[in-house]
Amino acid sequence: VRKTVTPWRIHSTQVCSLLLLTNSCAEKQVYSAEGGKVTLEPTVPDQLKPLTSILWKHNDNLVVEWIKNLDSTDYYGAFDGHTNLDIETGRLEIDTWARNYSGVYSVEFNGQLQSKSYKVDVIKKVPKPTVVLKPLTCPNEDTCTLSCDGDTTGAEPVTYSWRADERDLHEKSEKSIQISEDDGHVKHFFCQMKNPVSQEDSDPMENPLHPDTVSLSNIEATLIPSGPWIYECVCVCVCVCVRACVRVCV
Ligand SMILES: *[C@@H]1O[C@H](CO)[C@@H](O)[C@H](O)[C@H]1NC(C)=O
Repeated sequence: VRKTVTPWRIHSTQVCSLLLLTNSCAEKQVYSAEGGKVTLEPTVPDQLKPLTSILWKHNDNLVVEWIKNLDSTDYYGAFDGHTNLDIETGRLEIDTWARNYSGVYSVEFNGQLQSKSYKVDVIKKVPKPTVVLKPLTCPNEDTCTLSCDGDTTGAEPVTYSWRADERDLHEKSEKSIQISEDDGHVKHFFCQMKNPVSQEDSDPMENPLHPDTVSLSNIEATLIPSGPWIYECVCVCVCVCVRACVRVCV
C-alpha cells in the first residue's frame, strides 16, 4: 500500500531554482569512486523531529522509503541490496558499483521535500601516469615537452601537477610542461594526476637536458653502432663462423 506520486509535487530542481533567489537552496556536489561507497548525510530540521517518514529519490526514481507507522523500509530496484538507510538520521549510504548511480539524490522528511539535494558523480580513479617526452628527438631541440599521460576516460575532473626533484612546481598545473636548458640542473621530473577520489604519482623521468643524461646519451650514441654498419658486422661474423665450421667438418 503505497502513496502514488502526485503530479503537483514540485520537482526538486524547480524548488532549487526558486530557492536560489533566497540563497537557502543548495545542491551539494559529491564524488564517489566507481566501486566505492558514498554517504549522504542530510540535516533533519528540528521542527520535523521525530521523523515519521523518509523518502529518498534518485532523479525521479524511488530509492528507499521508510514509514514509521507501517514499520516498513522498502528499497527499490537497483538500490535494493546496494544501499543502507539510517532511520534515525536519514543518512543514506550507497554502494556505487556502477557509473549509473550518478545523478541527483533528494530526500523528503515527513512528506516535506528538503531543499538540499546531492549531485553525485561516480567516477573512475586516476591511472598511474607516465611522463612522456615529446618530441622523441629531444634533447636535440631547443625545447622539450613533458606530457603527463594516462587514460583518464571516466576519471574527469582530473588535475595535474609537476615536481622537479624535491621541489614542487606549483605554477605548473597543466598536462604538459615545456623544459629548456634553464632546467638543466634538474635530475628527475615527476607528475601527479589527481581527481576528487584519487591521486597517483608517476615514476621519476630522467631529465633529458641534465648534463649526466646528455653525456650518457652521447656515449651511448658512439658505443652502440647503428645503421647498415651493424648489419655488415653481423654478416662478416656469420661468414667467418660458417667458414670455420665448414673447415672443421670437411
Ligand atoms: C546500473 O546498471 C546496472 C547494470 O547495467 C543495473 O543492474 C542497475 O540496475 C543500474 N543502476 C541504476 C541505478 O540504474
